[in-house]
Amino acid sequence: MCGIVGYIGNKQAYPILIKGLQRLEYRGYDSAGIALIHDNKLNVYKAKGKVSDLIHFAEQKDIVGSIGIAHTRWATHGEPNQVNAHPHYSQSEELAIIHNGIIENYAVLKEGLMKHGYTFKSQTDTEVLVQLIEYVKKSNNVDLTKAVQLALNQVVGAYAIAVIEKDKPDVIVAARKGSPLVVGIGDDEFFLASDATPIVEFTDQVVYIGEEEIVTLQRGKQLKIKTIGDVEKTPEIKKLEMTLNQLEKGGYPHFMIKEIFEQPKTLSDSMRGRVSLEENEIKLSGFIDNKEKFLNAKRIIITACGTSWHAGLIGKYAIEEFARIPVEVEYSSEFRYRKPVINSDDIVIPISQSGETADTLAAVDLAKANGAFIFGICNVVGSSIPRNTHSGCYTHAGPEIGVASTKAFTAQVTVLTMLALLIGKEKGTLDHEQYTKTVAELGRIPEKIKHLLKQDAVIAEFAKTFTYAQNFIYLGRGYNFPVALEGALKLKEISYIHAEGYPAAEMKHGPIALISQEMPVVVIAPSAGMYEKVVSNIQEIKARKGKIISIVTEGDKVVSNLSDYTISIPDTEECLVPLLAAIPLQLLAYHIAVVKGCDVDQPRNLAKSVTVE
Ligand code: AGP
Repeated sequence: MCGIVGYIGNKQAYPILIKGLQRLEYRGYDSAGIALIHDNKLNVYKAKGKVSDLIHFAEQKDIVGSIGIAHTRWATHGEPNQVNAHPHYSQSEELAIIHNGIIENYAVLKEGLMKHGYTFKSQTDTEVLVQLIEYVKKSNNVDLTKAVQLALNQVVGAYAIAVIEKDKPDVIVAARKGSPLVVGIGDDEFFLASDATPIVEFTDQVVYIGEEEIVTLQRGKQLKIKTIGDVEKTPEIKKLEMTLNQLEKGGYPHFMIKEIFEQPKTLSDSMRGRVSLEENEIKLSGFIDNKEKFLNAKRIIITACGTSWHAGLIGKYAIEEFARIPVEVEYSSEFRYRKPVINSDDIVIPISQSGETADTLAAVDLAKANGAFIFGICNVVGSSIPRNTHSGCYTHAGPEIGVASTKAFTAQVTVLTMLALLIGKEKGTLDHEQYTKTVAELGRIPEKIKHLLKQDAVIAEFAKTFTYAQNFIYLGRGYNFPVALEGALKLKEISYIHAEGYPAAEMKHGPIALISQEMPVVVIAPSAGMYEKVVSNIQEIKARKGKIISIVTEGDKVVSNLSDYTISIPDTEECLVPLLAAIPLQLLAYHIAVVKGCDVDQPRNLAKSVTVE
């Protein structure tokens, strides 16, 4: 969702804030704004569109100041335009606020403020909050930190906010509930951001702000943290592991293609220290510490959204096959509200790249409250989901900036596969030969990905053929059904072509009506797993003149001869095919979107981490 940056120190704030916004732009990008204090003036500049539009707007303005806050927006209340962009002034223009999240009771608060003579310029819930802070501050005659605290006690909803005051150029007050916020500590300076990406080039010392905490960043003073309930907290300084290099495009035209090509490395990173090829063993510390819980689990519930949900489905296939534990895969947004049955001998596995997805966080809270053991699978180290779980396993894919998830997906599948194999081995439901064979093959996957990435140019070439398409169908069976769903999601989110994924055999129950010579059908048809059955499904498409793009195992002749376009992947174990088959689908979506001229890294209406429900 929205991105927040703040700076207070000895340097000029504007270039730091702008660079920070550019790093955070993947979180939201429909408008951007900045507030700076200089010469007793609180200057606010805002623009509809991207950070580049803000830079253009601010060109001739006073951008001096060593304190400031800045924001890149993903609209919730009010359309994306200049008025609704953040920062918002208070009525007197003495305060300015930026906000990520939703104030649910804003309408009631607004009504109350209007009775006290407050007027509103924007349609946002955020403007209501800054007016409330000002009202509370003036009527109680308190400082900014106290006013923020008192105001937040009246607020229902989720927020990460930062507020500055015209007459106090030495202080930023920030607070969070449900939306992430991190403070970077430099030399006599503080940085503030919704995630660590804008901070990494300045310092590796960070403090993650906890739920319902208010932080006061004051020039020349130590960081001060209090809860909204007025309890003082000692800041816990952590060391950032992220590097600047990981946040740059490294010669690639887009983050998405860079991240696709990183997969041989990210999968090795996911397995590093966990898969021992010498001993043919898997070691997951999160599992070892909680072995009995896994061995005695009656059920596993996976909860996730989007791509992470697709990874969860692949995890279900693997855990049920190897560990013989029933697995349910839930959309977090449904799970959290539908009064699910959760038992204390259930293991709940939230999966999330960002670790900040609001629905998945709420699903975790619900499962925890019902006594389940929570084992998180997340990519962003130190994010909210891992901090709220009992144990878990990081995917170690490194920062993923492209809004369309690629390397995080294959890393999630890798972790789930390791977990399934390990539980199966420890429970004795997986025979030793199959276990050692699959572990050894898992170790070979990064090399196989390197090999298949060589087909990038071929895929780029035939992608040009499909810019005409309005619709696509993706088909797969078994482990490759979720891959079909994921391939379809990738295409629709970045190319805006409507795409549906189906289990291949389900096609004849309805979707087959859509097949004509206009309809491209992507079929995942590797030799491992239900090959002949998929061949029959392909014949059904062929008979109706659908355009077939197949993903086959190297050396395949039968499906290749039936297909209009073929991409081959190296042979592997059935449960590992998704790790290979997903990659040509990522490349196909990427190249179609590029040829169509779409904004691949920042597709319309989307945001990288969905911190509102
Ligand atoms: C993936 O390409 C999507 N942009 C989206 O579906 C994403 O996977 C979903 O929002 C879940 O995010 P998370 O993994 O950070 O929880």
